[in-house]
Amino acid sequence: MKIFIEKNYELLSSKAVLRFKKILESKKVKNIAFPTGNTPKLFYRKLVELYKKGKIDFSKISGFLIDEYYPMKKDSKDSFNYYISNNFFALVNLKEKYSLNGSNLDFISECRSYKELIEKKGGLDMAILGIGENGHIGFNEPGSELNSRVRLVELKNTTLDLNRAKYEAGPIPRYALTMGIYEIFRAKRIMLLASGKSKSERVWDFLNGPISRDLPVSVLRLHPDIEVIIDKEAAVLIEDKIMNLIN
Ligand code: GLP
Repeated sequence: MKIFIEKNYELLSSKAVLRFKKILESKKVKNIAFPTGNTPKLFYRKLVELYKKGKIDFSKISGFLIDEYYPMKKDSKDSFNYYISNNFFALVNLKEKYSLNGSNLDFISECRSYKELIEKKGGLDMAILGIGENGHIGFNEPGSELNSRVRLVELKNTTLDLNRAKYEAGPIPRYALTMGIYEIFRAKRIMLLASGKSKSERVWDFLNGPISRDLPVSVLRLHPDIEVIIDKEAAVLIEDKIMNLIN
């Protein structure tokens, strides 16, 4: 595992872009899973800027959105489809863009198709991830099976309360469709991003706590090729611990 601790959110985003660009240039990645949330927003903005300057090329890359609320219209401003399209997918030259459709009433076949699509494409070469404040990855909430696949999940109240602030219209859906921990863990490489004090406990747990279903992100500690890029605020508890060990 590689861990980069950057001074602030701006530098974290720049570091993620730098690392990501290098990985893209290695030509070893084709299928990449992309997250939503506040954390990757500046990362996406910087990627789009680079693309506009002709300094990065996504023409060989297939983008896969990790999750989506359910039920949810694709063009709703609250949908993750809208988010990823407006922050990234529609602004660069990706070869292919895939996402879960929260408006398909047959969610079982929606999940099955997405699972099969990922398999048919040869699996994910890379997954970029944020961390939910309760330790979720994608929408794999605490309690998720470590071999869980693309599926419908019921969101925890903690997630609903936090995400309500980012949600504009009407009541927030109680359910979501998400890649499973299996699909995410099988990605050949992982880039995990966390910013701000509110993530510091989860970063600490991720690095030091038990690997358990109660903290879905913890399983990523076992991943053979993971890089973690965090800012000082998110690292505050681990830095304290390191200082304690030194002293
Ligand atoms: C959301 C998404 C996750 C994301 C997480 C953190 O609910 N389902 O994929 O990583 O919450 O979001 P943020 O970066 O805004 O803290």
